[in-house]
Amino acid sequence: MELFDRLTRERYDNPNRYSSVKFIDYMITDLEESAEERLPAQLADVCGLIRKIFGYSRYEPTNPYGFHKRVPAARNVHANEAFLIWDGRISRYNCKGNVFERVGFSETERGKCRLVIAAELWRLMKYYGEFGLMLPLLDAGHILAELKTELEAAGRTETEIRYGAAGKSEYDMLGLSPKCHMITLEADLGSGYFPAEGTEDNRRYRRVMNYDEEVSSYEAAGWLLSQDKSFRRRKVACEGTQMIPFTETERRESAHNHIGVCSLEKTITETTAERYLKQLEAYMNHYMEDAYRYRVHMLYTTKDGQRLQRIEGEKAGRAEPADIDKGQLLYDTVRMIDMESMPVVVYISYLYDEQLTEKENIYNAHIGAAEICHWFLLGGCADGYFGRPMRNLNDAYVEKAFGARDRERFVYSLILGKANTRNYVHRL
Ligand SMILES: Cc1cc2nc3c(=O)[nH]c(=O)nc-3n(C[C@H](O)[C@H](O)[C@H](O)COP(=O)(O)O)c2cc1C
Repeated sequence: MELFDRLTRERYDNPNRYSSVKFIDYMITDLEESAEERLPAQLADVCGLIRKIFGYSRYEPTNPYGFHKRVPAARNVHANEAFLIWDGRISRYNCKGNVFERVGFSETERGKCRLVIAAELWRLMKYYGEFGLMLPLLDAGHILAELKTELEAAGRTETEIRYGAAGKSEYDMLGLSPKCHMITLEADLGSGYFPAEGTEDNRRYRRVMNYDEEVSSYEAAGWLLSQDKSFRRRKVACEGTQMIPFTETERRESAHNHIGVCSLEKTITETTAERYLKQLEAYMNHYMEDAYRYRVHMLYTTKDGQRLQRIEGEKAGRAEPADIDKGQLLYDTVRMIDMESMPVVVYISYLYDEQLTEKENIYNAHIGAAEICHWFLLGGCADGYFGRPMRNLNDAYVEKAFGARDRERFVYSLILGKANTRNYVHRL
C-alpha cells in the first residue's frame, strides 16, 4: 500500500522539480511528418465514436482553456490520445485537425480492430510532479464511461475492455516510449473485421519530443511504468437492462470562470438528490463488474439542512442529517471555489484490496472513481447543473468527515452547482 498511498494521500509531497523549456502543445501536434489518413467506410462508426469522445465540442483558438470536450480533463490538458488499430494499420486521432494520422503498421495486428488510449505523462507531470502520473488515469475513467455507454447504445457489447497495456511491445508498436507514456485503457472491438485495402506502410512516424528523462526521474513513475503485468479483460456492461445514454452530454460544463466558481442555487430537494444517487447506483451496477470496491458519499444541502447519503456494497443507502464543514474539504483553491454555495458535493473512495497488486489497485481506484464521477455529473448536467470534477481534496479532513474505514482511500470528488456568475469573487 506504500506506493498507493504515495500517489494518493501523500501526492503533494513530490512536486515538479524541473523547469522544462520543452513545449508541449495542448492540442497534439508533436508527430513528425504526420499526414492525414483516409479510413475505410466500414470504420465510419468507430471513427465517429472516437471523434465524439476525443474531439472538440467547442474551440477558441486564442485561449487554451477556452476549448471544451465531451469529457473533462485535469487542467483541460487532455493527455490521453486515441489510437485506432485496424487490420495491422495504426492510426492516431489528432483532435486539433480532427483527422486520423498513420503512425505505423504491425503484422501481428492483422484482422484485429482495437482502440488503445495512451497518455503523454509529462503534459501533466510538468505541473504536478509525481502525482501528475495519476491524473491521466482519472481522465481515462471519464473516457471509459462515455465509451461504455456509446458502445452499448451501438450494440457493441462484445467489446472487451482492459486497463493498461498488454506488454512493453505495445508501446513500441504505437511509437510511444514506455518510460514517458502510459497506456491507460484498451478496447478490443473484435477480430476479422475486414480486409484493409491499399498498400501497407511499415514506416513509423517519430515523436518530436521525448520526456523519458523527466518522467523517469520520479521514483514512483520508474516503478509503476516498469510493472508490465497486464490486467484481465472486462465487459462493457453486465447483464440487465440497457442504460439509456445521456443525450445532454454536449451541455456538460465545469463552470469555468476567470475569477471563481460558485453556485447561485445553494439547495436541492431530497427527492432530486435521491434520484441522482439511485440513477448512479443503476449505472454502477450495470457497467462495473466491481462496483463493490467503491463508496460514494453524496453530501447535499436541503432547505432543512445538510444530508449525507451513500452508495456502498453496490447499494444506495438512506439520507442522514450531517454537519460537515464544506469549507475544509478542499486542499487548495479555497479562495476560488465557494464550496458553501454548492448544493451537492460527491466524494468517491476506493477500498484497497490486498489480494490485488499495487498496480492493479492504483488503476482500479482512479479509473473506477472517475467512471463513477462521470455518470453522476452527466445526471446533474441533464438537469442544467454544472459538474466540476475535483482532485484537490483535503484528505485528512475528508477522511474524518466521511468516516473513512481501514484501507479506504478517497480518490476523487465532484461539485455540482447551478448558474455560476462570470464576475463572482469569493473571499474567505
Ligand atoms: C482528473 C481531473 C481532476 C481535476 N481536478 C480539479 C481540481 O483539483 N480543481 C479544479 O478546480 N478543477 C479540477 N478539474 C476540472 C478541470 O479543470 C476541468 O474539467 C477542465 O478544465 C475542463 O473544463 P470543462 O470540464 O469545462 O471542459 C479536474 C478535472 C479532472 C478530469
